Amino acid sequence: MKVLVVGKGGREHAIITALKESPTEAEIYSFPGSDAIFELAKPVEADGVASLVSFMTENEIDLCVAGEESYLVKDEGLANACEAAGIPCWGPHKEAAQLEASKEFAKEFMVRHAIPTGGYTPVETIEEARVAIAGQYPTVLKFDGLAAGKGVAVCLDEKMAEEFLDEVLVQRKFGAGRLLVEEFLEGPEISIFASVVDEEYQILAPARDYKRIYDADEGPNTGGMGAVSSLEMFEGDLREVIDATIVKPTVEGLKKDGLPYRGFLYFGLMLTPQGPKVIEYNCRFGDPEAEAVLPLITGDFAAYVSEGARGELRPDLIQFSDGWSICLVSASAGYPASSRSGDVISGVGEVSNARVFHAGTKRNASGQFETAGGRVLVVVAKGETREAAVARVYEESDKVSFDGMQRRSDIGIRNF
Ligand code: AMP
Ligand code: GLY
Repeated sequence: MKVLVVGKGGREHAIITALKESPTEAEIYSFPGSDAIFELAKPVEADGVASLVSFMTENEIDLCVAGEESYLVKDEGLANACEAAGIPCWGPHKEAAQLEASKEFAKEFMVRHAIPTGGYTPVETIEEARVAIAGQYPTVLKFDGLAAGKGVAVCLDEKMAEEFLDEVLVQRKFGAGRLLVEEFLEGPEISIFASVVDEEYQILAPARDYKRIYDADEGPNTGGMGAVSSLEMFEGDLREVIDATIVKPTVEGLKKDGLPYRGFLYFGLMLTPQGPKVIEYNCRFGDPEAEAVLPLITGDFAAYVSEGARGELRPDLIQFSDGWSICLVSASAGYPASSRSGDVISGVGEVSNARVFHAGTKRNASGQFETAGGRVLVVVAKGETREAAVARVYEESDKVSFDGMQRRSDIGIRNF
């Protein structure tokens, strides 16, 4: 089977690894990929959705897997173009991918289908935003479009709110677009993933992501500094409640709205005292959650995804290991405001009891890996208990270093 995976980060490195390790043999192609990914996958030359799909047709690709979201909503939409070319795609059509691409679309969908979420007001100007905030802090401000996880500000006071409003509505840091003023929700967060195949779905092992750059959840939001996954995180009837109040109505809502969906659907939830509420949908696996969740999956992941893209949900093809999986991100100097490239990474070869996925690296002229992005490397370790996984992931991650490396020291410890 020939599979083309779209994306270039740690999540795609983890997805490609899981495909490679499956009993169903897969020859993998990657676009745009990375030097680390090209050790497992063949590179693809393309400059947009149409040329990517032409490549797939010419090379008789059997399956397209959307790792990241951007191509799902670009041009005519990756899944739409695959469908027109008769290529099964794991990832939704452009119309359904609006659940991630437009926060207002997602909010309207949730209201329409009575899915619990925080209250919100869409605004276009600073003046409207101030009226909607009405002096109530904390408040949550969200740019209504794709912003690589950086378009959200949880503002504790007026000063923070005014700074973010200026960036988004005056400087247009993320381009044109509206802003949502959202009710601040409190509680632990959890990331839920479902494999959705039309009306059917399977809930995978849940995860918890650590979004802030510094320990104790301080500092600005990042793309994610680490994640923990275990079936044990479904305490009591949590899984059943999330299924009944959120996952099931979402899948039914997609059906009712005529939005066919095949692919991973990610529910970012806040476990509030009033029950779980949706913070956001993403039409893909989480990053870095994928790096923690996928190593817990055994069975035939490649066949599972391939069958799903062809319209058959086959939960029997995969199993989830007991225990805990924890991934720890090493980020480059300056992240998340900026990122420094060109710092040589050492020690990756010494990691023996964990996996290393590359998020933002490249090979330099002498063949060494160096930093080439904000999030650089993700080290993932498993353990029978959370404590054992924490100890192992830190022991292994300590072997890796580069100048300016930033890493949290409370992944898997805080928020439990
Ligand atoms: P998002 O990109 O929508 O996932 O938001 C990024 C992060 O901001 C989330 O993971 C939360 O930690 C926080 N956040 C987003 N929306 C809210 C909300 N309504 N209340 C509290 N925190 C939020
Ligand atoms: N870990 C957050 C995300 O993938 O959006």
